[in-house]
Amino acid sequence: MFVRICFLAVIISCIQAQIELTLPPLPYAYDAIEPVLSEHLMQLHHDKHLQTYTTGANKLLKRMYDDENSSNELKGLTNQSIEFILSHIQYLPEIYQVGLKQYGGGYLNHKLFFSTLQKPTATADENKPTGPLLKAIEKAFDSFDKFKQIFTDVSLEVFGSGWVWLYIDAYTKELNYSFASNQENPIMFNKNHITLLGIDLWEHAYYPVYENRRSEYVDNFWRIINWPFVSQLYTEGVAKQTDDIDKETDGIVKHTGGCPMHAGI
Ligand SMILES: [Fe+2]
Repeated sequence: MFVRICFLAVIISCIQAQIELTLPPLPYAYDAIEPVLSEHLMQLHHDKHLQTYTTGANKLLKRMYDDENSSNELKGLTNQSIEFILSHIQYLPEIYQVGLKQYGGGYLNHKLFFSTLQKPTATADENKPTGPLLKAIEKAFDSFDKFKQIFTDVSLEVFGSGWVWLYIDAYTKELNYSFASNQENPIMFNKNHITLLGIDLWEHAYYPVYENRRSEYVDNFWRIINWPFVSQLYTEGVAKQTDDIDKETDGIVKHTGGCPMHAGI
């Protein structure tokens, strides 16, 4: 109850018009990821698919803000960051939960995905993390190769559309992985779960180049991961402060659901 009161207090304190998400610019040229991901694929994926998620999330947030049945706390929520909204998705009326999971999740997931890519190395073996992130991966998965194998295997097991995620628990500071269907993100199930890396397993992410050869796409994914950027996210996750309210919220979130399909290590 205490957590809910605090949550509402944050929201009610700033009832303004809903946030307007904007299409995040691609941080490199459309052809920068060639030949692993073609220029055409990147244009479609970024300009069309991410734009659709952006537009859809904005429409839903506006509808929720304009809805005469929305309470002040709901209207206030639409003014928060998309990360905050998704990490409190369980407080939303069901009619908005589903849409915001897909469109808001799609926005957040793709914003991260495009930021974690870089010009491909010649081979996958040349592209590895270093420093504290490598040590954390080795601690969580025994070795980088083992992590790579698990991540790859799970990516091939996902049926239909979804993602495989590497995330840090900002409370325990431990790494783990999960997979989720559609546009789900670990933050929707535990607000301390900060995604560091994700592979997009929707067909739109690889079909124009690989057609039905998902395994080839997954193998090549290891050539295009921007590990310095992922390391920076890891460092931020380690430094993130949590407090007692976070711990209580974790408890509530755990009782309302968890990563639905695949527990981590
Ligand atoms: Fe995608």
